[in-house]
Amino acid sequence: MDPVHQDFFEGGAGRERTVAANERAFQRRWIVPRVLRATGDRDLRTTVAGTPLAAPVLVAPTAFHRLAHPDGETATARGAAAVGTAMVVSMAATQPVEEIASAGGPLWFQLYPQPDLDFTEYVVKRAESAGCRALVVTVDSPVFGRRERDLRNGFTDLPSGYACENMRDAAGRVRSIAMDATAGWDRIAWLRGVTGLPILLKGILHPADARLAVEHGVAGVIVSNHGGRQLDGAIPTLDALPAVVAAVDGQIPVLLDGGVRCGTDVVVALALGARAVLVGRPVVRGLAAGGAVGVREALERLATELDLALALAGARRPVDLTPDQVVTR
Ligand code: FNR
Repeated sequence: MDPVHQDFFEGGAGRERTVAANERAFQRRWIVPRVLRATGDRDLRTTVAGTPLAAPVLVAPTAFHRLAHPDGETATARGAAAVGTAMVVSMAATQPVEEIASAGGPLWFQLYPQPDLDFTEYVVKRAESAGCRALVVTVDSPVFGRRERDLRNGFTDLPSGYACENMRDAAGRVRSIAMDATAGWDRIAWLRGVTGLPILLKGILHPADARLAVEHGVAGVIVSNHGGRQLDGAIPTLDALPAVVAAVDGQIPVLLDGGVRCGTDVVVALALGARAVLVGRPVVRGLAAGGAVGVREALERLATELDLALALAGARRPVDLTPDQVVTR
């Protein structure tokens, strides 16, 4: 891969403290297994916001897949479909959502609130018509994070021949993705008025915002710091999870992303109350290494490791894990 593009995929904001801390947070947790639970064969299946999943591991929305592999987002979608999980298509995808949908697996669509509401509605309707089953609204990006590697590399735009295909307006012109610092909670109410799709908010870290999310009728929240690409110094997601889970009090599912790298990481997040996790960079690495097969193998490996870790921790299903099975040292 072009090292400039690799820096885009791997890097984060500022000094990348949060990028590093997301993974480190998992290293500080230890699993306390239960024994003689007669689990038999494990059952990894779950349902989130009406979408059935073969395992509680989804593909996080990440931008510009054609820079990682010529087959782009379509390959990622094929890899996700092969393992029976959902892919969240980024608003910054380099292929049209209709084409990505041809892979056949369940898709959700990620949206950055745009200041132009008519255009936002147009994009949402397009995702809906393409068959996306949920809308993931990224709420941690009122402005764009400062990515030092990209600034150093002069990487500010897609190379020619590539475009954010889902940012085309009705006339076929590609709009730039705007970060909208004027968006407030009323925008969520407005979005609920323009789509019947379940809405999940991505980028919740504070328990008070988790409460507000419940009050605004969303179908789920994703505890996320954007993989450390927005606010450097933001709390590692695993550290934020317990308070969000407590605030939501079982009313809606809580998902988590950031730093999930192996099956035991998934076990820890599930035991602390996550319904499912999403993975960003591991999927991009799989895509870069082997296209759709690479994505499938990365996801399969996580599911296999999760199955093994569940058995060894004494759980048959993800919901059998309990918070007392994780300690911090
Ligand atoms: C992202 N992320 C992201 N999030 C989003 O809502 N819209 C987007 O377009 C992108 N684009 C994007 C590009 C790249 C290269 C990365 C690494 C991340 C954030 C992503 O959805 C997720 O929150 C993190 O990637 C999760 O952390 P890990 O799994 O990469 O550690």
